[in-house]
Amino acid sequence: TGLITLDPGFVNTGACRSDITYIDGDAGILRYRGYPIEELAKNSTFVETSYLLMYGELPGKQQLDTFTDQIQRHTMLHEDLKKFFDGFPKDAHPMPVLSSAVSALSTFYQSSLDPFDEPNVDLSSVRLLAKVPTIAAYAYKNSIGQPFLYPDNSLGLVENFLRLTFGLPAENYEIDPEVAKALDMLLILHADHEQNCSTSTVRMVGSAQANLFASISAGINALFGPLHGGANAAVLTMLEGIRDNEGNADEFVRKVKNKEPGVRLMGFGHRVYKNYDPRAAIVRDTARGIIDKLGGGDEMLDIAMRLEEYALEDDYFVERKLYPNVDFYTGLIYQAMGFPTEMFTVLFAIGRLPGWIAHWREMIDDPDTRIGRPRQVYTGPTQRSYVSMDQR
Ligand code: CMC
Repeated sequence: TGLITLDPGFVNTGACRSDITYIDGDAGILRYRGYPIEELAKNSTFVETSYLLMYGELPGKQQLDTFTDQIQRHTMLHEDLKKFFDGFPKDAHPMPVLSSAVSALSTFYQSSLDPFDEPNVDLSSVRLLAKVPTIAAYAYKNSIGQPFLYPDNSLGLVENFLRLTFGLPAENYEIDPEVAKALDMLLILHADHEQNCSTSTVRMVGSAQANLFASISAGINALFGPLHGGANAAVLTMLEGIRDNEGNADEFVRKVKNKEPGVRLMGFGHRVYKNYDPRAAIVRDTARGIIDKLGGGDEMLDIAMRLEEYALEDDYFVERKLYPNVDFYTGLIYQAMGFPTEMFTVLFAIGRLPGWIAHWREMIDDPDTRIGRPRQVYTGPTQRSYVSMDQR
C-alpha cells in the first residue's frame, strides 16, 4: 500500500479533465463554459443553458428552436411507466420515485442505450430533459391523490412543469410569468457544479459504460443525501424549528458550535467555496421580491437573514470560512411558490440534470476515461486460520 495516497472524500484528487464548469472557490467565481453564472442567470434560459452545458457553445436561433422543439415533443411518459406510480406507498418521497422511474426508462428505450452511438445519446439526453419534469410532477400529484395531466406541448419546459404540478384537469391553470421566470433562473443556477458528489457518481457509474439513464438515476440517489441536494429541505426544517422557538436562533447556533452530533447550520459551508457562494448571492437577491409578491414567507426570510448576519460575524464560522451556499435561500422561494418541502430536492434534480448529462457525455467521449476504481488502504486483520464453530 506504500504507493497509495489516502484522500477520503477526494478533497485533493482530480479524477478527470473537464471543459464544462470553472469554479474559483476562494474568489467565489462560477462559470459554465466560460460564461459567468451572473450573466447566464440574468440573460439565458434553462433550456439554452442546458444546450450550452451539453454542446459547449450557446446555440444559434435555429439550433435552439430545434432543441426546444425536440424537448417539447418528448414530455409524455409511456402509459405503462405511469402505472409505476401506483406501486409506491402514498407517502413515498418523490426523490426515490424519481430515481426509480429514471432507472426504468432504460427498460422502455432498450434499443437506444449504446453509450457510443451519438445520435442515440442525443435522443436519450432529450428524453431525460423532457421527461424528468413530467415524472417529478407526477410523483407529487400521486402523493396528494390528484390525477395526472398530460403535458401541454405548446408550453415551455418550466411552464409545462408548473402546470403539471399545480394544475387540475377541470381548471385552466394560469401560469404566473414572474414565478416561471424565477424558477427558470433557479434551475440555471443549479445546472452544473463540476465534480460534486452526484456528478462524480454519474461519471463513476458511466465509466463502467452503464447507459445514460442508469447513470443519471444513480446521480439522483446521491443528490437525495442531506449533505448534498437534500440540504435545501433541511434548511427549511431548521428555520421552522427556530421560528417555533420564538425566533430564537441562539440555542440552535450553540448546538452547532458545540458540534452536537448531526447538528449543522444547514445551507452553510461548501467543500470548494471558501467565500460567498455566488449562486447564494443571486438567490438571496431574488428571494425578497418573490416572497413579497407571493406572500407568506417573510418571517422565515427574516430569520434566515438574521442567521446569516450572525454567522458571518461569529468566530466559529469565520475561522472555518463557512458562508451561505446555494441551498440556504432556495427553499424559502420554493415554499412561497407552493412546493412542499419534499419537492425541493426534486427541483434541484431537474436543475442539475443537464450538468449530469454533459459530464456523462464528456466522460464517454474522453479517450483518457478508464473505469473508476479507487484503491484503499487495508486496515483489517492479517492472515489468520479459520476457527470451527465449536472453538469460537
Ligand atoms: N455548520 C457547522 N459547521 C460546519 C458546517 C456547517 N454547515 N460545515 C462545515 N462545518 C465545520 C465542520 O464541523 C469542520 O469543523 P472542524 O474543522 O472544527 O472539524 C469544518 O467546518 C470543515 O467541514 P467539513 O465537514 O470537513 O467540510 P466538507 O468540505 O467535508 O463538507 C459540506 C462540506 C457542504 C458537506 C458541509 O459544509 C456541510 O455539511 N454543510 C451543511 C449541509 C449543506 O448545506 N450542504 C449543501 C452543500 S452546497 C449544494 C450541494 O452540494 O447540494
